[in-house]
Amino acid sequence: MCGIIGYIGRRDAAPLLLNGLKRLEYRGYDSAGMAVMNGSMQMLKKKGSVSNLEELLNVSGTVMLGATVGIAHTRWATHGDPSDRNAHPHMNVSGDIALIHNGIIENYSSLKQELIAEGYAFESDTDSEVLVHLIDRIWKNDPALGLEGAVRQALRHVDGAYGICVVSSREPDKIVVARKGSPLVIGLGEGEFFIASDAAPIVEHTNKVVYLSDGEMAVVTRDSYTVKTIENVEQQKRVTELDFSLEKIEKGGFEHFMLKEIFEQPEVMRDVMRGRVRVEEGLVHLGGIHDYLDRLKQAKRIVICACGTSWHAGLIGEYLIEEFARIPVEVDYASEFRYRNPIVSSDDVVIVISQSGETADTLAALRLAREKGAMVMGICNVVGSTIARETLCGMYTHAGPEVGVASTKAFTAQVIVLFMLAIAMSKGRTISHEEIRLNLRELAEVPDKVARILEQNDAIKEMAVKLKDARNALYLGRGYNFPVALEGALKLKEISYIHAEGYPAAEMKHGPIALIDEDMPVIVIATRDNTYAKILSNIEEVRSRKGRVIAIASEGDREIERLTKDVIYIPQASAAVLPLLTVIPLQLLSYHVATLRGCNVDRPRNLAKSVTVE
Ligand code: F6R
Repeated sequence: MCGIIGYIGRRDAAPLLLNGLKRLEYRGYDSAGMAVMNGSMQMLKKKGSVSNLEELLNVSGTVMLGATVGIAHTRWATHGDPSDRNAHPHMNVSGDIALIHNGIIENYSSLKQELIAEGYAFESDTDSEVLVHLIDRIWKNDPALGLEGAVRQALRHVDGAYGICVVSSREPDKIVVARKGSPLVIGLGEGEFFIASDAAPIVEHTNKVVYLSDGEMAVVTRDSYTVKTIENVEQQKRVTELDFSLEKIEKGGFEHFMLKEIFEQPEVMRDVMRGRVRVEEGLVHLGGIHDYLDRLKQAKRIVICACGTSWHAGLIGEYLIEEFARIPVEVDYASEFRYRNPIVSSDDVVIVISQSGETADTLAALRLAREKGAMVMGICNVVGSTIARETLCGMYTHAGPEVGVASTKAFTAQVIVLFMLAIAMSKGRTISHEEIRLNLRELAEVPDKVARILEQNDAIKEMAVKLKDARNALYLGRGYNFPVALEGALKLKEISYIHAEGYPAAEMKHGPIALIDEDMPVIVIATRDNTYAKILSNIEEVRSRKGRVIAIASEGDREIERLTKDVIYIPQASAAVLPLLTVIPLQLLSYHVATLRGCNVDRPRNLAKSVTVE
């Protein structure tokens, strides 16, 4: 939800900022802009992707070159349409303060009225612009405050969420930054510093970073940085070393990040399990929750909160934990949980799942659960993210940076973590040592099986041709494969813009069957498990209404060919690991349908990778 980057050092800022924006573009791509201090403030901004800004910079950016301090922004529109005028940075009227903002200023409307009444002219429809005028007003009224003091005072007037960077030609050798609700990280180089929404644009310059916490501000100069709270209390911050490389966030020969991330899954899955799964010993070692495992095993109930794809992983987690550990699990959309006055107590354990670790609703659910006394655990991908830091304990998915907006490898990594968790919780309680070994062996075999499914990429692409002109699609699954049907439908709709719904297959006759005719493709997950016979009946129901069936079936299943010619086979496996296999062809199918339709799969319209607004 908007990417921000700042640079202060001795190198030419504009190309560095531009490069940084390219790495942040998955956070939003409605417009991009930058401001640098080159004697006076110089600014360029443009509607559309970062490449539009780059063109502008090439054509008319000579004034920007040579500056060594600057800020830049890529926008995901919340208030005000995607346009040049609503692009960040925003400047004050005299053009000597520039600001970039990620988040939402909730009371912007009343602040704007106040400022307009005082004669301030607004150039955009954004909520963010009020901040720059507010800083300007406060600084003018009390020049002794300086930029830092003016920003500090301005922030006392605003409600909402922000990650901001502010520069001024009145104090040209510093960047003032602040965060509340929207992530900010400072990269520590040699005689230079970077500030960004996440580490992706920083990692090629330095692996040393400091994460700001909510309610903190920093003043960054060429030689130092100081962090204080908004109340002006100095903070000692821990320097974190990043453990991912630039290579990991580049496309590595694939046409899109999404495809690269789909193909990375066997390796990612091995990484997730590495050092944690010991098949022969029948043991799962989860360092991040080790000290809390007993409390987890004693929980009366587990509540899982998440959004989107992470919520689908949570549903699979429910099936796994209930099956193996026999503890009741509820799965809630974080956005519903936080507003419905849920019954949660200290007997409960709340697990929040988030790839980015920054999703606003999931973070709010976490805080609410904590307030109500529950033990809160996190499953996050982004190391050092807000959710990872605010939970009592947790497990990282270790899937590496996920750049494609549609989540793929993070999802399968989340499911593996939940699988390991369910086994760890059942140990010594609900299932035998031998059953644990059997299940861990099944899990350990998954990466090789996924690699075999990926070999069918070309065949899946051919099948995508049959789907590409559809206007709607139905995904059906049962048991462990029901959440996969939801996930398959979400993947298709978000990147190809074809309307799709996922259903438990047996529910079809309670409504969706009315939609079925020769134009309705129905993707059925029909693997050999305890619901197989029922699923075949569901396929017959679709066929008798002329629906077009694509089946995901288990290798060796000849019966399914009697019902449809369009079958994608996956290796046989136990029911509990099936979601990790059945989701792979659905990811590939969505990817190919979207590319055949000419859609931008890595940056689908209206979406952003990290949703830091509710
Ligand atoms: C879909 C997708 C989203 C996210 C959701 C939660 O492909 O990526 O539905 O799963 O926005 O994001 P995280 O997991 O970062 O909390």
